[in-house]
Amino acid sequence: MEKDTVVNIKIEKAETSKINEVDFSNLSFGSVFTDHMFICDFKNGSWQEPTIIPYQKLSMDPSAKVFHYGQAVFEGMKAYKDDQDEVWLFRPDENFHRINKSSARLAMPEFPEEYFFDGLNQLLKLDKQWIKKGFGNSLYIRPFVIATETGVSASPSTEYKFIIICSPAQAYYAGEVRVKIADHYSRSASGGFGFAKAAGNYAGQFYPTSLANKEGFQQVIWTDSNTHEYLEEAGTMNVFFRIGDKLITCPTSDRILDGVTRKSVIQVAKDLGIQVDIRPIKVVEIIEAAKNNQLKEIFGSGTAAVINPILGFGYKGDKWELPKLEDSYASTIKNTILGIQYNTIEDKYGWRVKVD
Ligand code: COI
Repeated sequence: MEKDTVVNIKIEKAETSKINEVDFSNLSFGSVFTDHMFICDFKNGSWQEPTIIPYQKLSMDPSAKVFHYGQAVFEGMKAYKDDQDEVWLFRPDENFHRINKSSARLAMPEFPEEYFFDGLNQLLKLDKQWIKKGFGNSLYIRPFVIATETGVSASPSTEYKFIIICSPAQAYYAGEVRVKIADHYSRSASGGFGFAKAAGNYAGQFYPTSLANKEGFQQVIWTDSNTHEYLEEAGTMNVFFRIGDKLITCPTSDRILDGVTRKSVIQVAKDLGIQVDIRPIKVVEIIEAAKNNQLKEIFGSGTAAVINPILGFGYKGDKWELPKLEDSYASTIKNTILGIQYNTIEDKYGWRVKVD
């Protein structure tokens, strides 16, 4: 990553590595972490000296504001290793800008660009051996910010921690994905913070998603909170609908996450000659299309999930199955994006960024 300033990061290396304890052929998403973490404190109005230390527990006061008022934001990124052992990131600038956008909405301080990129670079160099080669293997990177000031007064914290932890990853969804279309619960509202990668946006989904799980669905596709007529996003993914030959996704808004994979899918699809409509899409439209055999595909996009086909959906008690396609848009677009991420094809967009 070429950034102008080099930050002085104090590095304390782990005495021993845990890597030999890990079965890389059988990873459950986000459950194993690398040897090191990046950490930087905010106090007295500024970010302090950043450090990289052995991965370890945090010690925090029980009254820290993150525990009470949920001032917490995060990002999801991945590092990939190519056949020459070079390590790559995918559009990391997007994640950097988005975490600061999320922070600003939650009245949290923005993190400096050079700290973010130098921290990430040095952390990845140190834990490089945790990144395995091959499509599907990656290192999931989780930058996050939490409010650490003690005291339960309901006001923004004056102290924070910015942390990056990393977890070797394979697929996010191991099995088939079917979704329930929300007709009662909502993920976000206009004027709210649905666009932010805020911890609370995920917590609020867990209960309705667990109800959907009991009905046999892995995820919920959220609808707009006013009318529940318009399809918005799934819990961990943006969503795309293929009706006939057109690919449709709803526009981003203050209710919807501006996904990095989403915008990459749109660009790649257009360049493959696929007509992409970015417009509000009604639940009744996809049900009509399903009835007329015109609903060819639904898929989700996200950093963790990459591009995940959705095999069926449920709405108000009815269930629909999608056809199995040989030449799905999902797999064609996914192959292009993976090729860019793993450095097996030319990156005409300049999305791939080398870690060095
Ligand atoms: C990601 O795709 O990075 C996400 O944030 C999803 C996550 C909640 C696992």
